[in-house]
Amino acid sequence: MMKKVLITLSVCLALLVGCTSDKEELLNPSGHDCAGVNASFVNDVWPIIQANCQGCHGAGSTNGPGPLTNYTQISNVAARIQAAVESGIMPKGGGPLPSAQIRIIRCWVNSGTPNN
Ligand code: HEC
Repeated sequence: MMKKVLITLSVCLALLVGCTSDKEELLNPSGHDCAGVNASFVNDVWPIIQANCQGCHGAGSTNGPGPLTNYTQISNVAARIQAAVESGIMPKGGGPLPSAQIRIIRCWVNSGTPNN
């Protein structure tokens, strides 16, 4: 009897927690986890792009948006980059990136792609 109650309680709790975060996701799909994330282009975004993207998006690349080798090229297609890493289609063949890195890119784009 006690066991049944406990199981019921944990199922309810799990559902409750699940629903709460789903709701947050729906209300604020892209920015809800950016509080306190101060993503820098030079220190955070650039190393991710360098390590994971430039093998295929180097100088002269004709893949998708082409080269991603400087701030202008990257910020010009920031929304496409965000979409591609969030969906996991990029980095091609090796995606998705770890969620912490996807978050950095999302938060950098959401904060207006600062050149910082
Ligand atoms: C193994 C090679 C490879 C790697 C690594 C790679 N890409 Fe790509 N990327 C491609 C190719 C090829 C395309 C063209 C579309 C296709 O063939 O899938 C593409 C397309 C894209 C597109 C356009 C997608 C669209 O249709 O909107 C974006 C944006 C992009 N890449 C960003 C990135 C980013 C950001 C990274 C690193 C996190 C990355 N890519 C890593 C090969 C790569």
